[in-house]
Amino acid sequence: MTASIIPPQTSGHQIEKEWKEGDPFDWEQVHDRFTWKESGRVNMAHECIDRHVLEGKGDHIALHYFADEEEVIYTFSELQAEINRWGNVLKNHGVHKGDFVFVFLPKHPYCHIAMFAAIKIGAVVGPLFEAFMEEAVKDRINDCEGRFLITDDTFLDRVKREEIPSLEKVFTTNEKHGVNISITTEAKKNSDQLATEWVDLEDGLNIHYTSGSTGKPKGIIHAHRNMIQQYQTGRWVLDLHEDDVYWCTAHPGWVTGTVYGVFAPLLNGVTTVIHGGRFSAEAWYEVLEKARVTVWYSAPTAFRMLKAQPDHLHHNYDLSRIRHILSVGEPLNPEVIHWAYENWNLRIHDTWWMTETGAQLVANLPTRAIKPGSMGRPIPGIEVAVLDDHGHPLPAFETGHLAIKATWPSLMKEVWKNPEKFASYFPYGKEWYLAGDLAYVDEDGYVFFQGRSDDMINSSGERIGPFEVESKLLEHPAVRESGVIGKPDEIRGEIVKAFIVLNDGFENEAKLLQDIRAFVKANLAAHAAPREIEVISELPKTQISGKVLRRKLKEKDSVCS
Ligand code: WTA
Repeated sequence: MTASIIPPQTSGHQIEKEWKEGDPFDWEQVHDRFTWKESGRVNMAHECIDRHVLEGKGDHIALHYFADEEEVIYTFSELQAEINRWGNVLKNHGVHKGDFVFVFLPKHPYCHIAMFAAIKIGAVVGPLFEAFMEEAVKDRINDCEGRFLITDDTFLDRVKREEIPSLEKVFTTNEKHGVNISITTEAKKNSDQLATEWVDLEDGLNIHYTSGSTGKPKGIIHAHRNMIQQYQTGRWVLDLHEDDVYWCTAHPGWVTGTVYGVFAPLLNGVTTVIHGGRFSAEAWYEVLEKARVTVWYSAPTAFRMLKAQPDHLHHNYDLSRIRHILSVGEPLNPEVIHWAYENWNLRIHDTWWMTETGAQLVANLPTRAIKPGSMGRPIPGIEVAVLDDHGHPLPAFETGHLAIKATWPSLMKEVWKNPEKFASYFPYGKEWYLAGDLAYVDEDGYVFFQGRSDDMINSSGERIGPFEVESKLLEHPAVRESGVIGKPDEIRGEIVKAFIVLNDGFENEAKLLQDIRAFVKANLAAHAAPREIEVISELPKTQISGKVLRRKLKEKDSVCS
């Protein structure tokens, strides 16, 4: 397909003033911006919050929260004071530098406060996705023997304490007293002053669990040095200016919600919008209008869902303040880009990165033309290549393994207790990090995503490991065997489809299949529950290891549908 090219945006971008195509760029240049360049002492919470207060911007709005009837605003000073109070509570309860503090909260300022309170005292924060069910919560906290959790009373039934033996203290954001510690009540009794725990650039900052094609999710640990790239991509890719109002729609339980919903905008001192609740076209348009959003970061599924709305809806709202839109997480269809360009008169800038990479690597910069269908080009400071199966670079237009020249400031620090997994990202030596994505690069260096090289499923931008779903299915009494694949879907990109073999005595009935789906939903997570389940008599398997041949299931599926 030859989708027409969309020209660069006109003037006023941060990058335009600071870097020209072909200019040299070194990440070292960004170091000057940070307090630690002078002091040698670093903490993400300091750079995101305290430094803005010190620089006289305490009255600037840091967070603007919207949900149904509620609206809450925190200035940088107010946010700092609250973080300090919460940090004191955590300290009083024995949280120390390097401890894991899990945060299992809805999209709400409390989630930001909890994360920064933990970070400011040197802890490693583990944000958990708000829709996780008990199994997902348990597996993650158990994997790194987490001792502390901050959550909400309404989420407590998904925290099975007796199955998480390491968990010593559970803080809740509710005022009620019980077996747990009410962090909000205790915070009121604590000082709004808190000394920062200064750490090294290489010290742990956050942990996100992410799915691969085999085994349980792996804990990806990032370091405080991430701020270099997160600040800089916030400035050049998100094009954040001091007076912007910025909205990232992702929950911090996904890496995008943490990096570009919490860190990058606040590193840039920019007002961040938080919207509670699920997707609804009306609610989202309302947030864009009411909050006067100028920069908006979301995902292709959301854009596709908006595009599918009746025409009049798009004209019922005043979106005139939006200046810059970005997308991440899954392939962005050219027709969506064209639709937005025609309807909103705005370009959607695709960006590509991964949990493991810690920040954007490939993107459509505002100053560059967009080739719809491409994710853009490597950002300054990043070099990509497409490699063949032996690790040799391929020429333009040939599809192979998307690789990034190591290293860059936000690359993961480690995979928790799994050095082999870390090494598996570098199969051809230290020079090239392999993403696990297939891509080609065109004559101008634009990168075109072609799929995953493994069986991982990407549904609405969420990474789902088929193995985790298969394992959960097997726990259902009716399921003897299971194989799970991603099936192409117009809105969600892919949906989870399960093939199952039933145990004797169970009938292939709609009710049973519904029950199996509900079982995965209730025990793992809603997004991982198969939208389609097909009963078959036998699963295709490899002869030697007996592994499920998911590729064969995919072939079978495309022949049948
Ligand atoms: C996919 C999300 C197509 C890709 C930040 C990658 C994309 C995985 C894009 C990482 C994009 C991310 N176009 N596919 N612009 N961005 N992906 O760790 O397969 O949740 O490897 O990080 O999402 O997913 P993760």
